[in-house]
Amino acid sequence: MAKNPEVVMVTGAAGFVGSFLIERLLALGHVVHGLDIAPLDAARNLEAVRAHPNFHYMQGDIRDRATIEAFFRPEAAVLYHLASVVGVRRYMEDPLSLIDIAIIGTRHLIALAVEHDVRILFTSTSEIYGRNPAVPWKEDDDRVLGATSVDRWSYAASKGVCEQMLYGVHRKTGLPFSIVRFFNVYGPRQTPIYVVSQTVQRVLNGVRPDLYDGGTQTRCLTYVEDAIEGVIAAATRPEAIGEVFNIGNSTENTMAEVVGMVLEAAGSDLEPVPIDTREKYGAVYEDIGRRVPAVGKAERLLGWKATTTAREGIAKTVAWARATPWYLALKP
Ligand SMILES: NC(=O)c1ccc[n+]([C@@H]2O[C@H](COP(=O)([O-])OP(=O)(O)OC[C@H]3O[C@@H](n4cnc5c(N)ncnc54)[C@H](O)[C@@H]3O)[C@@H](O)[C@H]2O)c1
Repeated sequence: MAKNPEVVMVTGAAGFVGSFLIERLLALGHVVHGLDIAPLDAARNLEAVRAHPNFHYMQGDIRDRATIEAFFRPEAAVLYHLASVVGVRRYMEDPLSLIDIAIIGTRHLIALAVEHDVRILFTSTSEIYGRNPAVPWKEDDDRVLGATSVDRWSYAASKGVCEQMLYGVHRKTGLPFSIVRFFNVYGPRQTPIYVVSQTVQRVLNGVRPDLYDGGTQTRCLTYVEDAIEGVIAAATRPEAIGEVFNIGNSTENTMAEVVGMVLEAAGSDLEPVPIDTREKYGAVYEDIGRRVPAVGKAERLLGWKATTTAREGIAKTVAWARATPWYLALKP
């Protein structure tokens, strides 16, 4: 079928990244078809776009083939596939659905994309590189995953299977695809169970923030609006077809610095609570000391680079959360 460059699909539409992506796609003039397991009424992230004439929402589960068939627009130029179980705690709670949603859901979407020749953008993760100690990680670097008895690796393993399905199907059928691997994307509306979002929510509620294992681990924090521009470039540029890209800020910050920046932006003098993760979670927990993206490929092929500093992004996130009572009241 002839493609309509204006029409796009987004799975994981009610999520944190999905909602920012949809706002941006609508602003660019697209007709957006969004799918999420969450009911639209409950999707506060979509408040700004819910009534937009070019936005169409369907509640449904990507594990269900009939749902995906009803959702799928064969004329669409791009399918942005974001739906996933996200967050260490969530996938430790429900390991079977993590794997079903990632692998069965993605498999259904790939099959329909092949049938209708629709380009796919798949959102993967920096967790793919595991604990490879040789940072910064280039896109074709080795994955160094830990033992299967450690829960956290199921997320990286399932995203890895999805990436390999895409490569395999591309080789066999020519399906156009691109993959982005996010490095700690954060910003307004993110569920408060990740380092920045949880710290912001706690501090603004006057609760002392956690600091894991001395706070020496580093992360490269990527502000959501920066990440979105990388996603759209990866999904649309011809030179991005068949390629995977790190979407991350190249600047590392320790967790102690990040917590400090939140406290500063919030004007708070709360003392962080030191947490020993081995004591709290036991041997099924394993952290990764440093996660640093090589950013040259995204710069070269996508013309994309993160530009928001952690201090600026955290300040914006704190200002938004402070003005958003429903977010402050969320029970993570
Ligand atoms: N935020 C990050 O730092 C980060 C890092 C690495 C990768 N990612 C990836 O980016 C994507 C978006 O992440 P996010 O931060 O917006 O997470 P999120 O949890 O806010 O969004 C994920 C969305 O997927 C939906 N979903 C889950 N299961 C579904 C199903 N079976 N059918 C339909 N919808 C379903 C959820 O309801 C949710 O709205 C995910 O694929 C995630 O793995 C995010």
